Amino acid sequence: MCGIIGGICQNNITPLLVSGLKRLEYRGYDSAGLVILNGDNALQRVRAAGKVVNLENNIDSKTVNGKIGIAHTRWATHGEPTTKNAHPHICNGDVGVVHNGIIENFLELKIEQQAQGYHFSSDTDTEIIAHAIHQTLQDSDGLLAAVQKAVKTFKGAYGISVISPKNPGHIIVARSGSPLVIGVGEKGNFVASDQVALLDVTKQFIFLEEGDIADITLDSITIFDKSDIQVERKIKTSKLQNRQISKGDYAHYMQKEIFEQPQAIADTLESRITKDKVLTSAFGYEAKDIFEKIEHIQIIACGTSYNAGLVAKYWLEDIAKIPTHIEVASEYRYRNPIILDNTLFITISQSGETADTLEALRAVKKRNENIHSLTICNCAESSLTRESELTFLTHAGVEIGVASTKAFTTQLVSLALLSVAIGRCHGQVSAEQEKAIVTGLNQLPGLIKKALAQENQIIELAKTFKNKFNALFLGRGPMHAIAMEGALKLKEISYIHAEAYPAGELKHGPIALIDKDTPVIAVAPNDELLDKLKSNLQEVKSRGSQMIVFEDEDSKVTPMNGLSIIPITNNLGRITAPIIFTIPLQLLSYHVALIKGTNVDQPRNLAKSVTVE
Ligand code: G6P
Repeated sequence: MCGIIGGICQNNITPLLVSGLKRLEYRGYDSAGLVILNGDNALQRVRAAGKVVNLENNIDSKTVNGKIGIAHTRWATHGEPTTKNAHPHICNGDVGVVHNGIIENFLELKIEQQAQGYHFSSDTDTEIIAHAIHQTLQDSDGLLAAVQKAVKTFKGAYGISVISPKNPGHIIVARSGSPLVIGVGEKGNFVASDQVALLDVTKQFIFLEEGDIADITLDSITIFDKSDIQVERKIKTSKLQNRQISKGDYAHYMQKEIFEQPQAIADTLESRITKDKVLTSAFGYEAKDIFEKIEHIQIIACGTSYNAGLVAKYWLEDIAKIPTHIEVASEYRYRNPIILDNTLFITISQSGETADTLEALRAVKKRNENIHSLTICNCAESSLTRESELTFLTHAGVEIGVASTKAFTTQLVSLALLSVAIGRCHGQVSAEQEKAIVTGLNQLPGLIKKALAQENQIIELAKTFKNKFNALFLGRGPMHAIAMEGALKLKEISYIHAEAYPAGELKHGPIALIDKDTPVIAVAPNDELLDKLKSNLQEVKSRGSQMIVFEDEDSKVTPMNGLSIIPITNNLGRITAPIIFTIPLQLLSYHVALIKGTNVDQPRNLAKSVTVE
């Protein structure tokens, strides 16, 4: 939620701020801005509503020129996405601030600040940060001390970067609840919400910890922890390559990421399995002891990651025979759940920074010390990996398209491995069953390539959605979760209202929605529920709906008028089928979005990493 970049170097910082913001647009893209300290030691700000390119067009490179600066791309929380609400926010020409997060006590602070004579020029919560630091700066020895004092009055979440002409040559950054990474360069030092923004200038990063505040100058980085004690944080070398974050020959990141899935899945499996066995140690050296002890599983996640968890509930109960519950994090964290001893609390998250998921984990750890935590996550240096007992990294690579694709299928692969590992620890998985599952998983990259090869047929089907505004997705068993993910993808990027239902539930309400303008999309693997699903399809067809069925070659759904049947694969097991049947649904959404002319990679109102609640 919102992207921050800043830096201090020997040359003009403005081009880096703009190119970095473009890489951070996945975090928000409704307005953008930057402020630099110019040659006259004055704060010079440029802002624009809309995408970073609008900001870029507003920058006069001759005048907006300075060696120190901070910038921001916004996903609006408080205040509309207008220029006046765009960051940076400035107080009296003395303090410039960019902020990612939400200051929850901002109203209270605003009233106090107004009484002290501070004037507000925006509707944001961030502006109180600029005023608070301005105030503490009056009686502090420098900007660092002022920020250290000011943040103690904030409640909520923040990642902030601050500059001031009163203390030129310093950027002060602070994090609590929102990610910040410092880039250690040869010709300067930098800060950003995500290392991808800084890959052009460095591969050396310091990942700040909760409560850290850092003073960054051209040739030094000094870090203090939440008690203001100076600390050392390790410098880590990033393995990320610039090419991993470029679109290559693809039209969109989402398209590239869909087609990267065979490799992403192969990478996720690598070193986690032998020819016929899942390596429990891949979940951490304590995993075996923990898995043997657990009696319950609670999964928490949001969005697409939640849908992955829904599939896993079937697998964990079916294979590992452990009672498993799943809930969206934003609900779970605010109720009083009964947390039984020996529960394995699993968070699933692409980013590892989703505020609701992270807070749910923190709340659970406070309430019951006898639980164990595991995160299935795509970002190694994230808050969730730092705060969980066990971590299993999905090796999806960087995912930039806001609509998650390869993160989802690699999460499913990871959860399949987990189900087997826990099942084996509980004596529920025979060597033969494990071998069959591992063999199926090993076949996934090839099977996904085969499913991707159906793209041309899917392009034709997508054309029929041109004037449609509603769609219904059906599946049974774990395929209901896949239908949910298909509906979510279609909503997110084509803005078509889509719902997913377990096919057997259709007759209890949603069947009333069916008419010729509401296409119905069903996933029909050849499993024990196939005959029941076929009956449900008949019920739909007889109400005049236009239907698309993605089937197993052996499912043999009866051809009918107005029914398009696309074979995707054949003879899949319970584990591989949900993963493969995700592919045609991703392709369908992508091609419908192209027809609708929406912004595929940056759909309206969404952001990839939601670090506010
Ligand atoms: C946002 C994204 C979704 C994602 C969800 C959870 O809503 O737009 O694509 O599934 O956050 O994110 P996480 O990083 O926790 O998986």
